[in-house]
Amino acid sequence: MDWVINLSDLAAAYLFIYGLKRMSSPATARKGIVLAGVGMLVAVLVSFLYAFSVNAAARAHLIVNLPLAVIALAIGLGWAWWRGRAVPITAMPQMVALYNGMGGGAAAAIAAVELFGGQAQDALGLAITLLGALIGAVSLSGSLIAWAKLDGRINKPWRIRGQRYLNATVFLAAIAIGLWIVMGARGGVPVGLFFAVTLAFGVMMTVPIGGADMPVVIALYNAFTGLAVGLEGLVLQNPALMIAGMVVGSAGTLLTLLMAKAMNRSIGNVLFSNFGDVSLEQHGEIKGRMKPVEASDAAITMRYAGKVIIAPGYGLAAAQAQQKLYEFVKLLQAASVEVKFAIHPVAGRMPGHMDVLLAEAGVPYDLLYELDEINAEFASADVALVIGANDVVNPAARTNKTSPIYGMPILNVDKAHQIYVIKRGQGKGYAGVENELFYADNCNMVYGDAQAVLGKMIQAIKDLGESTGGIKAAA
Ligand code: TAP
Repeated sequence: MDWVINLSDLAAAYLFIYGLKRMSSPATARKGIVLAGVGMLVAVLVSFLYAFSVNAAARAHLIVNLPLAVIALAIGLGWAWWRGRAVPITAMPQMVALYNGMGGGAAAAIAAVELFGGQAQDALGLAITLLGALIGAVSLSGSLIAWAKLDGRINKPWRIRGQRYLNATVFLAAIAIGLWIVMGARGGVPVGLFFAVTLAFGVMMTVPIGGADMPVVIALYNAFTGLAVGLEGLVLQNPALMIAGMVVGSAGTLLTLLMAKAMNRSIGNVLFSNFGDVSLEQHGEIKGRMKPVEASDAAITMRYAGKVIIAPGYGLAAAQAQQKLYEFVKLLQAASVEVKFAIHPVAGRMPGHMDVLLAEAGVPYDLLYELDEINAEFASADVALVIGANDVVNPAARTNKTSPIYGMPILNVDKAHQIYVIKRGQGKGYAGVENELFYADNCNMVYGDAQAVLGKMIQAIKDLGESTGGIKAAA
């Protein structure tokens, strides 16, 4: 039986890694997710074979637990299937936070079974179990707070004076209790205390962080969860858990670093600064005024342009206007306008947010360009159309040293001949700062919800086509 288990673990590990590789391109990502899912299914099913590879006494024990495992699987599968289908794309970060927390919780639960069960372990084994428990518990409680913040259930960062020292004290207390257990303390009191303190640390570490920084925090907890699962895999001598943990851990770490780099911020700055607070608003007055135009006027200008580059942002996702946007783009293309999408790495609220959104609407991947590929092209664009994006097109990131987003790479939409910005009003972006782009001479505001504005733009082009008989709409 052992060889079947080992071979299945190898197959699962291969599927995880191959699936992850396929996720690196939007064209193959869907298949990659399915492959990694099949790997997970193999890893879960093969766990049941362990019952046949142990002695009779252990098998009797496992068989008693079998119905419980099946019930737990059925509940988990049913809930995930239902939620996965029902969740709107704007609520995806919350869902990731929840699943992430559950992964950490599962690792902590494995450790709890080992620690409460008092299985004989040497000091090294105990230390590894405790480390996995600590990281898993922090990831569980921290991810739950992150979920509550992203879901708007906790609206304010809670901070108290001396918070960092208090957090450091609680963390040191968790380490001290862990050492106490390694040195021989056994039973419910030390282990229960250990979990209470580590869970509290996860909460205390996360509550002071602003809700808008939660995506980076979730990626960090994702890395934590992977590490915790890998460590518990080591304790259980389960290769599938070890490999899955390592894959998640390294992917989470890379994601965290990439997100921080794209925002030009350090992880320490995310965890310990109050980014996005109104109090951090940049100083200095912006000259000029915002100049509104009608949606139809902007649409007709674009209809007669040679090249239009679209910079989408969080507002496009909030308005769920991706279908309307692609309908508009198809009308422009039918009128021989060259249209490209400029995708900023942190546009929106989660990694790949814009890619997923535009893929959902059927926008071909070859119209999507990354920041480095497209930035030089804005100077030759007749129109840059900014839809629900703010921080990722704010020139203050290049010029204003007092701005909290100074140094963040941005899309150079300000270099285009004419800029149109679709947004509802004077709302600020995620960083809570004013955007001098909106006041520029070559910029006009098209106020309104992105979905409604794009609807008007589509109508304007169709009306023009009817009156001139000129455009054969592809849409
Ligand atoms: P934001 O700077 O958040 O700006 C979004 C803009 O959309 C707002 O100014 C808002 O203005 C407008 N808006 C909201 N709802 C709208 C609607 N229904 N119709 C039209 N407009 C609407 O977005 P961004 O430019 O995409 O930048 C993303 C920010 O999130 C960056 O600062 C980034 O660092 C941060 N962030 C991103 C990530 C990832 S991984 N993507 C992770 C953490 C943080 P009105 O209220 O006036 O409409």
